[in-house]
This record gives sequence, structure tokens and C-alpha cells, in this order.
Amino acid sequence: MRKIGVFDSGVGGISVLKELLKELPNEKYIYFGDSLHAPYGDRSIDEIRELCMKVSDFLVYEKKVDILVIACNTATGAAMHIMQEKYNIPVVGVVSPGAKEAKKISKKNYITILATPATVKMGVYKKELLKLDSDLVVQEIPCPYFVKMIEDGWTENEKNNNMICNYLGFVSKKSDTLILGCTHYPLIKKYIEKFYHGNIVDPAKETAKEVKMKIGEQSSEYLNSEIEFFVSGDLDKFKKVSEDFLERDIENIHKKILK
Ligand code: DGL
Repeated sequence: MRKIGVFDSGVGGISVLKELLKELPNEKYIYFGDSLHAPYGDRSIDEIRELCMKVSDFLVYEKKVDILVIACNTATGAAMHIMQEKYNIPVVGVVSPGAKEAKKISKKNYITILATPATVKMGVYKKELLKLDSDLVVQEIPCPYFVKMIEDGWTENEKNNNMICNYLGFVSKKSDTLILGCTHYPLIKKYIEKFYHGNIVDPAKETAKEVKMKIGEQSSEYLNSEIEFFVSGDLDKFKKVSEDFLERDIENIHKKILK
């Protein structure tokens, strides 16, 4: 069994873990949700970097993972290049796989990204997409409030629907492809779909494929997965939201605040 480290500022990375479990079902996963410090997307880039490095040092040096998956767009933008230089293991982020997929399926070459304020500020997707094709038109929409509402357990009500409707009201009529540029957003994809009728890209699927490509298929002699969770914030809240989305019980979960 290989050890795969996965981390996010909270429950968002569960959308990536879910896809990883489909692609690579027979591995040991160690998930860190830094919910004490969520949302990352409202913090400064230096702060995000510092938080991310603590989490990744824990996964790489203490938990000795074989590969690190940054299941957070904000963290990918702020710290992936530092992690790739620092560690001797593969480090995979969510931005490049999502950008490649969006470029592949957009017919009108007009791509919109919903993301955290920090991801938009860093222009993470814009840079990645324009590297792939400088003729693309890229629109980035910051969505403050989404992450906090999702961390707290999203409920469908008028206020939340209005919030989605409001953010999606900024999407250009020319756009035919929407990237969910924050790993929390797939948890509310079915509500977003009501207001956007083009292609919706969840980078999680492509990220999981990239991880599989990097570490290769597991041999068939191992037939189960293990998942261990470390969470810095409220365990009950994390457990409830994650279990609903993962559609499986979470047993092995510990409170962990990194110093
Ligand atoms: N889920 C994260 C992302 O993909 C960050 C959310 C946050 O903490 O702001 O950007």
C-alpha cells in the first residue's frame, strides 16, 4: 500500500479524495483538513504559504507519505512550487489538471473560473490557461462566503440560492466552460448547475488521474483502502460534512493542531 497525503484548508479536499478513491482504491490515505484556519482564500499569500508548509511538513516528515496531493487551489497557487523544490517526493496540485481539461472541452475558448479571493488575486488559473493557449479568454470570479458556508454544512435555502445566483450573474454570456476553482465547490455542484448550463469542470477527477499516472496502478494483491484523518478545527462538523459527501463513515479521525 502506498501512502498518499492529501490536504486542504478543510472539507474541500474531500472532493479530491473521493475521486482518488475511485482511481486508486487500494491505498493508504492520510488527509489533513486545516479547518481551524479556513478559509485560506481570505488570507494573505504569505499567511497561506506558512500554513500550507506546516501541513505539508507534517505529512512528508512525520507521516512519511509517498506522494503529496494539494487538494486546494489556493494552496496550489501559493505554495506548490515551494513544496516541489523542498521535498523528494512527487507533489501534485489541482490547478494544472483542471486547466487542461477546461481547455480541452471549451469550444468557444471562453473559460470562467469561480474561486477564492486569493486564487483570483494570484491569477493562478489565468496564468495556467494562457500558458496552454494564449488565445483563450479567461474570466475569474471571486466567491467569498462559499467556503465558510460549505464548512458549516450547506443548506439549500433562499439566502444560499441567491448567493449562488448572484455570483453566477457575473458570468459572461460568451462563456461555455466553468471551472470549479476551489475544491469546496463540488460539494455544492448540484446547486451551481441550476444557474450554469455550459460545461462544468471539477479539477478533482483530472487530478486523481494525474496522481495515478505519477505512482502507477496498485498491484491487485491489496484489496482495501485505509483513510486516516487529521483535523485542526471542529471534528464533529468536519465529520458530518465529509461523511455526507464521501458517502462513507469516517472512523479514524484525530484532532491535530500544528505548532
Ligand atoms: N478548498 C480550497 C481551494 O480549493 C480553499 C478554500 C479556502 O479555505 O478558502 O481553494
